[in-house]
Amino acid sequence: MILTRKLLCVLLLSPTLALAQSAPALKSGQQVYRETCMVCHGPGLAGAPRPGDKQAWGKLMAEGQAVLTAHGWVGVRAMPPKGGRNDLSLEEFARAVAWMARESGGKWQDPDARLLERIRGEESKRIEQLRKSGKG
Ligand code: HEC
Repeated sequence: MILTRKLLCVLLLSPTLALAQSAPALKSGQQVYRETCMVCHGPGLAGAPRPGDKQAWGKLMAEGQAVLTAHGWVGVRAMPPKGGRNDLSLEEFARAVAWMARESGGKWQDPDARLLERIRGEESKRIEQLRKSGKG
C-alpha cells in the first residue's frame, strides 16, 4: 500500500519536474532589477529614474508601456541598451521596467505575448528613427 502511494506520487510529480527542467525559469522583474538595473537606478545615477520616484515615473509611464520599454531596451541617452546586459531577454527586461513602474505607483504588469509583440514593434520603429536621424 505504501509502495503504491509512493509510486502515485512519483507519477503525479514527474510531468511537473520535466516541465521545470525544460524551460529555464524567467527571472522576476525585481530579480532583474537587483542584478542589473539597481546600480544606476537605485542611486539615480546620471539621472536614471529611481523606483519610487512617482513624479519621474509618472511622466515616463505616460509614454505607455510598449513605447517606454522599447526605448529603454534600445537605449536612450545615458541608459545603455538592455541595461548593459546582452544576455537579458526582452521579457525579463520588460518585467524589470514593469516592476520599477509598480514601485512608483503604476499598475503595469509583466508583459504577456501580445504586449511583447507590441514592444518588438516599437523597438523596430525606434531603431528606424535613430537610423534616419543619423544616431543609430
Ligand atoms: C549604467 C547605468 C544604467 C543601468 C545599468 C540601467 N539604466 Fe536605465 N537608465 C539609466 C539612465 C541614466 C536613464 C535616464 C536616461 C535619460 O533620460 O537621460 C535611464 C532610463 C531608463 C528608462 C527610461 C527610458 C526613457 O525613455 O526615458 C527605462 C525604462 C530604464 N532606464 C530601464 C532600465 C532597466 C529595466 C534596467 C535594467 C535591466 C536599466 N534601466 C539599467 C541608466 C541605467
